[in-house]
This record gives sequence, structure tokens and C-alpha cells, in this order.
Amino acid sequence: MLRRNMLEVWGEAAYEKDFLTGSFLGRKQVMLNGPDAIRHVLVGNAENYRRNPATRRIVQPIFGNGLFLAEGEPWRFQRRTIAPAMAPRTLPIMARHVITASEAAEAKLALLTYRPIELLGHLQRLALDIAGRSMFSLEMSGFGEELRSLLMNYGIRYAQPRLLDLLLPEGMATPADRGRAAFREEWLAFLDRLIAYRLTLPSEEDRPRDLFDLLSTARDPETGAGFDHAQLRDEVSTMILAGHETTGVSLFWACYLAALYPDHQADLAAEADAADLSLNHAYASLPALPTNRAHIDETLRLYPPAFMLIRQAIEADIIQDHAIEKGTVITIAPWLLHRHRAYWRDPDAFDHTRFLPGATPPARFTYMPFGAGPRICVGAQFALTEATLVLARILKKFKIELSGNGAVLPRAIVTTQPDRPVRFVLTPR
Ligand code: HEM
Repeated sequence: MLRRNMLEVWGEAAYEKDFLTGSFLGRKQVMLNGPDAIRHVLVGNAENYRRNPATRRIVQPIFGNGLFLAEGEPWRFQRRTIAPAMAPRTLPIMARHVITASEAAEAKLALLTYRPIELLGHLQRLALDIAGRSMFSLEMSGFGEELRSLLMNYGIRYAQPRLLDLLLPEGMATPADRGRAAFREEWLAFLDRLIAYRLTLPSEEDRPRDLFDLLSTARDPETGAGFDHAQLRDEVSTMILAGHETTGVSLFWACYLAALYPDHQADLAAEADAADLSLNHAYASLPALPTNRAHIDETLRLYPPAFMLIRQAIEADIIQDHAIEKGTVITIAPWLLHRHRAYWRDPDAFDHTRFLPGATPPARFTYMPFGAGPRICVGAQFALTEATLVLARILKKFKIELSGNGAVLPRAIVTTQPDRPVRFVLTPR
């Protein structure tokens, strides 16, 4: 069941409890689903919790020693060094790449109107194109196919944990690990070619063009140290990967929800229509898109792409009177938390007004599509900017309807994917 769809594992009671325990493959598991316990693990005693070995096995071939997997002092150095590159002042640079990529995707979609199309693939390609352009100022057409096929291959063969990945002690290679190691060689060679090509592109100005400029010149504010080539390559890889799959699937659910509620979609489109979303003005127009932004926030509540955060206790601990043994795996599932019966009014209903300006914000640690605490998603503001602008641009151009009926269920495979191909019909507005 875990391999088929993680979301099926939880019964109705899980949506009502704050603390769940169970055992999986003979090991004690703890699931935190209430704000106080979550705050303890992600903030109060965050130093005592690290990424778990199974996560490490699965994502290390791609993320290497980059920010996502680093721990302790190496993590602190990387976070301090990267954070300024992702600060609000760099968002206007990223927003320009978002608009250029979105324009190209819209032009393709314009050729596919009035007939059923699967939007998910288009949105994933768009998100990857945005990740590539914002990293390298490069249209991904030259490298995109290879990148996609490498990742697809990895996703199918190695991205889901196998039994031995969960059972064997850390440091002991599983059969899948050998395939993962071979993949890493291929992946690093690909990244080296990509970076070498990027370095041949002359800069016309002395301002940063993209994340690559920002990361390659980034310095630790405390020590002045920067990244060497291998580290920079792992950061680039982490940023591209952590960013595009999550944003692509968020855009899918955002379009799905817009199609389910046509009147609301008309409001989103009207708001987008009144805003200037062109290359030079889109970023400044964000404050004029509160309904589109609220739609994205509610999409991330109902379909959080990162459906589960996982940690492992380094030392024994006590969480709200519960003894936690050293090595216990702790999970926090935004999927459950965002639908918790005690913390949300009408938890399963779509209601974007919860997030409109002036609405009471959700209680702390009950809404966390980007995690929380020191390891909160470093790309959150970029992702929100991207998703809001792309949604608004698409709805400004097209009316989106579902083709055919039947509920679409989320399936938790790496991210929260639709459980079947979903067709939409786009009509020009
Ligand atoms: C809707 C889109 C996104 C979602 C839902 C999302 C979600 C998350 C979550 C939940 C975490 C915390 C994981 C944990 O605590 O275990 C995280 C971490 C991270 N995210 Fe995102 N993310 C998104 C977009 C992005 C983008 C666009 C980037 C980069 C450009 C990015 C880069 C990262 C990195 C590097 C980390 C690790 C941070 C650290 O450990 O210090 N993410 N993301």
C-alpha cells in the first residue's frame, strides 16, 4: 500500500488525532499531527532530528551534499550562503524567467484548444523550463529532453523505497543503491556539461541574471567562503529538482480546482485580466492578484505536494509526555494536518477565502506546505510567485474545463500526483 499510494495508509481516525504511533517493519513509528508536537520537532529541538536514512538513500544520487540533505555545520554554512540568493530582492529576476517560460508554454497550449489534453505533462514541462531558465538563463530546449529522460528513468526505477532500502542498516548498499550510484555518475556528467555550457554564455551586464550567477558568487556572510565546483553542482541539482516537480504538480491541482469551480474561475480570470502580467510588469502586479494567490494557498492546503516530512531522532527525547527512543522515525504529514478535523473549518471543502487578505490566518503549525522552522523550504517565496503568475497568465488566456467526469484522487508518489490521466479542454478567452 505504501508503494502504491501513501495516502491510503491513513484511516479516518488519523485526521482527528494529534499523535499517532504504529510499527512498520518492526520499528516504532511516530506521526505528529498537532501544532505543539510539530513545533517541538521542527523548531524547539530541531537539532535533535535529522533526515532519515531511507530518504538519504533515495535522494542522495540527485541532491548529493546539497542543502536538502546536509546536516549540522555544513548545512548551516550552505543555508547562510544560499539564503540571500533566494531573498525577496532576487524575485524580480526570477519572475522574468517565469514569464518568458510561461509565454512559450501558452503559445503551445494555444495550438491545442477545443480538444481534450492532458495538462499535467505541459505544466511539468513548464515548471522544469522555469527551473532551468531561472537557474541558467537557458531555454531548456537544448538540454531539457535529456534532463527529463534522466529524471524520468530515475523516478521509475529508484525513487520509491524498496523493502531492503528500509530494512538494511545505513551504510550497507542495497541492490537499488548500486543502480542509484550508476545513475549519479551519469547525472553528474550531465550537470558538468550543462554548467560548462552555461559558463560560455557571456554576461552583458554586471547584475546577476539568474540563480547560477547568484549561487556561484554567493559567500557565507560569516566566513566569506563560497562553493567549490562539486558543491555548487550539488546545490544547482538540488534547486532544480526540489523546485520543479513540486511546482508543476501544484499548478496541476490549481487548474483542476479552477475547473471544478467555474464561477470562481471567472473571478480569477477577471482579476488576471485587469493586471499587467507582461515581462516587465508581472512581478510588480503580484499585489493585484490576491484571489489568484489565495487560490494557490488553498490548493497547497488541499493537495500539498510534499505530503510528508520525515525525521529521525538522533537522541532520545520526550514529546508531549511521549518517550521517543533514539533512532525513532518521526513523520509529519501536511496532507493530514491540512485536513485535521479540529484545526480546520470544513476541512475537505475548497474555500480560497480562508487565504484572502483580511481572513484570519491559519493557526501556527497547522498549515505548512513548505515545512517550518530552520529547514523551511528555501524556495517558498519563489514557488508562490511562480505559481501565482503562471495560474493568472493561463486563466487570462484560456477557460479551463474538465473533459469527462469522475473524481480525481491524489496519489502520493514522490509528490501528490493525480491517480489517473486527467483531460482538460482549453478555450481561448
Ligand atoms: C510548491 C512548490 C514547493 C513545495 C510545496 C516545497 C516544499 C518543501 C518542503 C515541505 C520542504 C521542507 C522539507 C522538510 O522539512 O523535510 C522543502 C525544502 C526545500 N525546498 Fe522546497 N518546495 C517547493 C518549491 C521549491 C523551490 C522552487 C525550490 C528552489 C528553487 C525549493 C528548494 C528547496 C530546498 C533546497 C529545500 C531544503 C531546505 C533545507 O533543508 O534547508 N523548493 N520544500
